[in-house]
Amino acid sequence: MESLALRSSFAGSPLLELGRPARADLRLRRVGLRVAASTAAGEEGAPEPDLMVRMNGLELPNPFVIASGPPGTNYTVMKRAFDEGWGAVISKTVSLDAAKVVNVTPRYARLRAGSNGSVKGPIIGWENIELISDRPLETMLNEFKQLKAEYPDRILIASIMEEFNKAAWQELIEQVEATGVDALEINFSCPHGMPERKMGAAVGQDCALLEEVCGWINEKATVPVWAKMTPNITDITQPARVALKSGCEGVTAINTIMSVMGIDLNTLHPEPCVEGYSTPGGYSAKAVHPIALGKVMQIAKMMKEEFDNKDYSLSGIGGVETGDDAAEFILLGANTVQVCTGVMMHGYGLVKKLCANLKDFMRKHNFTSIEDFRGMSRYHPRTRSATQLGHYLNGYMEHSLELLMESRKYKVDAETLKETRDKAIKKAGEASMRADATVRRAKDVEIALEESSKKTLDCWVFKKLRL
Ligand SMILES: Cc1cc2nc3c(=O)[nH]c(=O)nc-3n(C[C@H](O)[C@H](O)[C@H](O)COP(=O)(O)O)c2cc1C
Repeated sequence: MESLALRSSFAGSPLLELGRPARADLRLRRVGLRVAASTAAGEEGAPEPDLMVRMNGLELPNPFVIASGPPGTNYTVMKRAFDEGWGAVISKTVSLDAAKVVNVTPRYARLRAGSNGSVKGPIIGWENIELISDRPLETMLNEFKQLKAEYPDRILIASIMEEFNKAAWQELIEQVEATGVDALEINFSCPHGMPERKMGAAVGQDCALLEEVCGWINEKATVPVWAKMTPNITDITQPARVALKSGCEGVTAINTIMSVMGIDLNTLHPEPCVEGYSTPGGYSAKAVHPIALGKVMQIAKMMKEEFDNKDYSLSGIGGVETGDDAAEFILLGANTVQVCTGVMMHGYGLVKKLCANLKDFMRKHNFTSIEDFRGMSRYHPRTRSATQLGHYLNGYMEHSLELLMESRKYKVDAETLKETRDKAIKKAGEASMRADATVRRAKDVEIALEESSKKTLDCWVFKKLRL
């Protein structure tokens, strides 16, 4: 069982005495100001794998983070997440004016394994047309404050989103930071959330807009900022690079994938459908996991090559339901792993299974810390571009063809040998039969000779005696 011990990551650091640093010190002042929970030593004997994660000056008891969405809607559920042992909690996305947000029902549609539309199979895909939080900002801010007062050693991250307006963004940041949250995650990625107001993926898909908005945000923020990326873009490394170059400390990937869950073949309406109206939504859960891994791998490589010099962070998300799913993100280079739909389906207690499962994986490979294996599969020696793979495969095919031809040649030779041997045996048999016949003939001749010489002798005796 993990215990939580209060610990300041920058205790005694001169940074704490600097007061409010100048703009040039922005990155320095945005790390290490928060406290964290730590994992207790394991049982006696073999050292217990340590799930502790440190990045951007934040410390988490484990890498599992509640993702922005229904599991971070209000005080009650976020408190539940802390009590169950989640490494950190990211709130549902908030904006200045919740009155502009109208959430509809039904806003979810599910894809089950087996035939489409089956009501029995396990859920593998989930579509939502949910918008950001429709609760008044003041309510959310009070709840953030209350949570930080009750859980000062736990990491609370506020997810925020605003219109394309510098003053609005900076106002929102000021109000949210005043509650004591440890970091900000910027929702540049909701695929269906108010693109007409230049919000969500509308910004994340446009590098020029993104650069400008990140500039406003990073000018204002005093806590670490993570930019949450949309997968609905050709090259996800481009906005991720822009976000980091514009001062963000971390990148989160992925938000949901633009989707239409299906068409009701009775009503002919796309799903989910609200009183005859519908819209494409965001796809999540198990089915998106491979896509998320692909996007995270691309970002992780880019970060390793271009941003390895500082304490940048990467948070992987998409279809996580087991510790093994999380291990995959970490093996690609993620520091933390977020879960949204998995919590909606399995509840907050899921974190215990995630931790136990991740520890099993670590024991199996003798890893004692997350850093022991973080990024290990980012440049797997056998991971190649499809073109390179094609060349390798062509090479293998040519080689296999050669082997096949060789083996055919040997087969031909073997057949020839067999034929020759059979012929030899046959000939030897014939020869031996001929030899037998010759011997038999020789015996006949010998008998005949004997008889004839006997007759000759008889004849000679007869003559001599004149019988
Ligand atoms: C119902 C629902 C609501 C969501 N709301 C938000 C949100 O408010 N802000 C945000 O950044 N992401 C939101 N997301 C996206 C998730 O945080 C996450 O990026 C995505 O669902 C993929 O992860 P998963 O497969 O673990 O759910 C939402 C997802 C779902 C399913």
